[in-house]
Amino acid sequence: MVRVVAQVILAVALTGSLSLGQQTKLQAIECPFPEGQDVASEAKCAEYTACEWTDGRCHMVSNDVGGYVVDGEAQDTGRGFKVNLKKADASKTMFGADVADLVFEVIQHENYHVQIKIYDPVNARYEVPLPLNLPAEAEADPLYSVSVSGNGEPFHFSVNRNTNGNTLFRSEGPLTFEDQFIQLHTGLMSSYLYGFGENTHTSFRQVFEPRTTFPIFARDQPVGTEPMNEYGHHPYYMVMEDDFGNSHSVLLHNSNAMEYSTFLLDDGTPTLTLRTIGGIIDLHFFLGPDPEDLNLQYTNMAGTPAMPTYWSLGFHLSRWGYNSTDGVRAARERMKVMGIPQDVQTCDIDYMDRQRDFTYDPVSWGDMPDLINELHNDNIKVTLILDPALVIDFDNYAPAARGKDSDVFIKWSDPSFVPSDQEAGTDDYMVGYVWPDTKTIFPDFLKPETATWWTNELKLFHDALQYDAIWIDMNEPANFGTNLDKPWNWPEERTPGVKCPENKWDSPPYPTMMIRVGDNQSKKISDHTICMSGNQTDGTKTYLHYDVHSLYGLTETIATFNGLTEVFPKKRPVVLSRSTFPGSGKYAVHWLGDNAADWTQMHMSIIGMFDFNMFGLPMVGADVCGFFNEPDLEMCARWMQLGAFYPFSRNYNTMGTADQDPGVWPEVGEISREVLTLRYKYLPFLYTSSHHAHNARELVIRPLLNEFPADLLARDVDDQFLWGSGLMVAPVITQGATSRDVYFPQGLWYDLVYAKLVATGPTTQTVSAPLEIIPVFVRGGSILPYQVPALNTVESPQESSGCTVAPDELMIAQGQIFWDDGERCCSTAMSQSYMSRLAYYQDELTMSVKHGQDVGIGINLETIDILGFPKDAQSISVNGAEIPSSGWRYDRDARLLSIYISVPLADDLNVKIYYDNDGL
Ligand code: GLC
Repeated sequence: MVRVVAQVILAVALTGSLSLGQQTKLQAIECPFPEGQDVASEAKCAEYTACEWTDGRCHMVSNDVGGYVVDGEAQDTGRGFKVNLKKADASKTMFGADVADLVFEVIQHENYHVQIKIYDPVNARYEVPLPLNLPAEAEADPLYSVSVSGNGEPFHFSVNRNTNGNTLFRSEGPLTFEDQFIQLHTGLMSSYLYGFGENTHTSFRQVFEPRTTFPIFARDQPVGTEPMNEYGHHPYYMVMEDDFGNSHSVLLHNSNAMEYSTFLLDDGTPTLTLRTIGGIIDLHFFLGPDPEDLNLQYTNMAGTPAMPTYWSLGFHLSRWGYNSTDGVRAARERMKVMGIPQDVQTCDIDYMDRQRDFTYDPVSWGDMPDLINELHNDNIKVTLILDPALVIDFDNYAPAARGKDSDVFIKWSDPSFVPSDQEAGTDDYMVGYVWPDTKTIFPDFLKPETATWWTNELKLFHDALQYDAIWIDMNEPANFGTNLDKPWNWPEERTPGVKCPENKWDSPPYPTMMIRVGDNQSKKISDHTICMSGNQTDGTKTYLHYDVHSLYGLTETIATFNGLTEVFPKKRPVVLSRSTFPGSGKYAVHWLGDNAADWTQMHMSIIGMFDFNMFGLPMVGADVCGFFNEPDLEMCARWMQLGAFYPFSRNYNTMGTADQDPGVWPEVGEISREVLTLRYKYLPFLYTSSHHAHNARELVIRPLLNEFPADLLARDVDDQFLWGSGLMVAPVITQGATSRDVYFPQGLWYDLVYAKLVATGPTTQTVSAPLEIIPVFVRGGSILPYQVPALNTVESPQESSGCTVAPDELMIAQGQIFWDDGERCCSTAMSQSYMSRLAYYQDELTMSVKHGQDVGIGINLETIDILGFPKDAQSISVNGAEIPSSGWRYDRDARLLSIYISVPLADDLNVKIYYDNDGL
């Protein structure tokens, strides 16, 4: 421990002055204008003393004048060190209110994890109030060292990897730390940068040229292709540092409105700017070194991904605009007639009575309880939507009245902000307007009283409608028509929606680029949401909505998750949330929001899955066949194929569009039946991968770079993905295409359906993919458990399972089977779940049960498919006893050896194959 601290302190010796050449390259660190960079001019530049105009560019002044200076020696804190900083020149500012004195603090955690905070030691500023899982003590052999410039020098710092000296973070140019504008720049070791969200990323790898900026702040913003902030808030990124694939990741633990910029310095260095308009700088570095290690390290701190219930991995069907229980029945009937697997039926806000939460329409949905019974009798689970905003009708609407009694709704932070025309009887609540036909108020889910009230409402609701899962939507929180004269869906004659007061919170000096992108009509950060000058509280402290806005979704998710554990004692709650924050994966399933029937957006859904797997939310998927607009047969068929490999697989569309459930077109119906049957067959593999995500924090959906970090070509592939490490999906996402190029990294790759060896990587091959085919490959070295598929997971005959063995070049493969009752919460007792390891070595397969023999009772392993087997077997023994020759079949063309056995999963197993290997 002492040695570690000494190591860190000894590193406090960076030189502070820069040569002219170095300063020139820093002219690429541009001065950000609140109006956007289009207004850049010498005159505009002159408005900011922290900016300077050189050769037609407005950039930040150099660090020695624009930044901070180290003020004193570093002090050992016992957990790292801290050092004081002071503003170099108080006259240099962007928007004023610079914090004169700061502390730079290094806090050591696990060997792979270090935290760096820069904060105001005198006036405590807002910090994210939700706990992270941090170790009580630092580990003794850190993989990193942190260096900071010496006493009296201009402040800069770096974080390095001890094993090879890689520089993970190296602050460039000045640090700016003002009350409402904080800015930090870092050089990156490479341009292999991934992550950040929730954004409209059109490529997984970030773009540095041209300079690209994305805002981050939870927002009701549909998918599009311009750089926009969407529903969640995840300031988390990963960099692959070198050709070996050493990787690190960084979380900026800050929930204020922010943006990040990627660009090249004049010497070509890939550089990242982080800007936030509140809170502090709170960086967590994870050292990996593999991308997969990062996932474990990050989610260990932010929250372990939830273990999904087995049925939630089945296919979900829904739309907005069934308009009646009969609309649902008709869609369900189409699925049945076509024999398409389905596990879940979801209902959107049209089931509600006047869009009021916890009600159902007494006319068109009057027999909703019967519908739910019918669905349950059909083994279909039911998900119902809830929005956070509740109507103000305390006399006739009991949930709001009970909420008022428990004082759960968000209020204005100052009585003077209450609009003079605010509805009578609404006290100092912040009043908005969403879907219902009267105005609404918003529960404050940070408050403990709100969670209690919400749980009670969920229970009462379940007494009325026996739902199985809850979908929480509009929880950024969304509000319509903020600052406008009329919300888009508000009748003419009504008074306007909420208009936010003019103050430093609702009109901050640097509102980030979010006011200029997407559907931001009022050009304010409160657009589409509630006012920043609202008040929230966790019972001990009061927070401005300005600070905690992006936590809304997570806090509602936690309240809903906890509420459902009371509705369904001992079962894993299923909560689908639109807005997320670091830690949401512990509780939530996420869909990628309001997309459109569009080929580009189909591609973007793969990138969205990569992003959210990185963020610790493996249960993710997009609205299959598109939410807005109408897909044609080809697009919906292709999307059903891709969606069959989303962990959260749901076909979904909006009001006023034609039905697009797979049963609508016979051809799409057949293709969907085929591909969903394939999904259902391999659900045991997906479930085992989900268990690994939950237990060992491995990604369920992996970009190729996670498995092949040293393969530079793999790092740019974002139109193919892996399930776990063993299955590669290469969907067709181009209109009219009947084939596609597939990149096969190192190793053997077999076609999943035809069981044939198709490629020995690394290689790119054009693969045939007529409309009815989605190319899916098994990676040599893997064993994938499967199950005989049925029309849903309740009907899947548990007694019959099998495995696909795909040997690598050395004829080796391995895999695991995880199994439990599919929904039990939250026991970690090994006896309640089954785990076995499968290992194939040359001509011998062994299965060793690790735990939970009792759980495996009644299920038999019946088929073993060995791909790429060179010859027919001469004899085969199972647990030492020879089986008759009718016990296997060899397909010479595919080189597939299928062995038929019947061995309980509860037992260990050994299968040995004898064949004549002469002449091979
Ligand atoms: C939002 C949701 C969408 C839902 C609609 C109506 O737009 O993102 O999925 O259908 O609200 O509830």
